[in-house]
Amino acid sequence: MNEIKPGLLQRAIYSREELSGDYFILWIWDEALGKLCRPGQFFEIRAHASLGDAEDSRCLPKLFKPISIYENAGGRIGFFIKKVGSGTASLAKLKAGDTLELIGPLGNGFPVVSGRRILLVSGGIGYPPLWYLQKELINHNLIFWLHGGAGQSDVFPCDEVWTMDGSFGKQGMVTEGIANLLNDKKIDLVFSCGPMPMLAQCAAICTNLRIEHYASLEAYMACGIGVCHGCAVPIGNPDKWDYLRVCKEGPVFKAEEVLWNLM
Ligand SMILES: Cc1cc2nc3c(=O)[nH]c(=O)nc-3n(C[C@H](O)[C@H](O)[C@H](O)COP(=O)(O)OP(=O)(O)OC[C@H]3O[C@@H](n4cnc5c(N)ncnc54)[C@H](O)[C@@H]3O)c2cc1C
Ligand code: FES
Repeated sequence: MNEIKPGLLQRAIYSREELSGDYFILWIWDEALGKLCRPGQFFEIRAHASLGDAEDSRCLPKLFKPISIYENAGGRIGFFIKKVGSGTASLAKLKAGDTLELIGPLGNGFPVVSGRRILLVSGGIGYPPLWYLQKELINHNLIFWLHGGAGQSDVFPCDEVWTMDGSFGKQGMVTEGIANLLNDKKIDLVFSCGPMPMLAQCAAICTNLRIEHYASLEAYMACGIGVCHGCAVPIGNPDKWDYLRVCKEGPVFKAEEVLWNLM
C-alpha cells in the first residue's frame, strides 16, 4: 500500500458530470473537508498514480494541478475542470469510483461580505470559484454576474454572457460590459477571476471609478504550497512592493495592489 504523505488526501470520486465542450465536473464527498473550505480557495489535484495503463501513463504527470472549489454543500465538493493540456487530460479520464489525490484547501479565498452591491466578472475557467462565491453571498447582497468566453461552449449560467465569436450573448470581451453596469447598478464591490488581461482591464476600470475590487489571479504553479516561489507576482504600490505567492498569499488580491504593468 502507498504511504500517504502529510497533507496529501485521497478521496474516491463519487460522480462525474459532463458539461459542454471540454468541461466536466468531478465530485467528492467529505463533510469534514467541506467545513474547511471557503470560496476562492483551491486544491492541488491529480489522478492517483495507480490509475492508467502503459498508454495512459504518458498522461499521468507527477505535478498536481490547481483547481478551484466550484461547489461545497455539506461536504459535497465539486471541481469544474476544462481539459487544456496533459494534466487536465489525465483528470478528464477519471470516472466515478477512481481515486483523486488532493492537497488543500489552499490559498486565502474571497472576503465574504454582506449588504453590498456586487458585480462578479469571470472569464473562461474563472467561472467555478465565482459560482461558489455567489452561493455564499446571494442571501446578503445584491449580485450581478458577467461571464465571458471564447464561444458558446465556454459560457455557463449567469446574468449576462459575452462571447468573442458572438455565438452566444453579446459579442466582444466581457470587460466591455463593465463600465456601464457599474454605474447603472450602483455597484460598490467587484470580484473577478479569469485571464490576466481581463483582470488588468477590470482593475483599470474599477481604479478609475474608485470601486473596491478583488481579483483572483491565475498563475503557473509548480508546488502549489508556497515552497518554490514560481507563482510570485508583484504586489504593493510603485514605491514599495514585493513578490507575493499566488498559491499562499493569494490567489485573491486587492486589485489596486497588483502591479499589473510588471506582470
Ligand atoms: C488558483 C487557480 C485555480 C484554478 N482553478 C481552475 C478550475 O477551477 N478549473 C480549471 O479547469 N482550471 C483551473 N485553473 C487552471 C488550471 O490549473 C490549468 O488549466 C491547468 O493547470 C493546466 O494544466 P495542464 O497540464 O492540463 O495544461 P498545460 O500543459 O500546463 O497547459 C496547457 C495550455 O494552457 C496554458 N495554461 C496552463 N495553465 C495556465 C494558467 N494557470 N494560466 C494561463 N494559461 C495556462 C498553457 O500555456 C498551455 O497553452 C486554476 C488555476 C489556478 C492558478
Ligand atoms: S507554486 Fe510554488 S510557491 Fe506557489
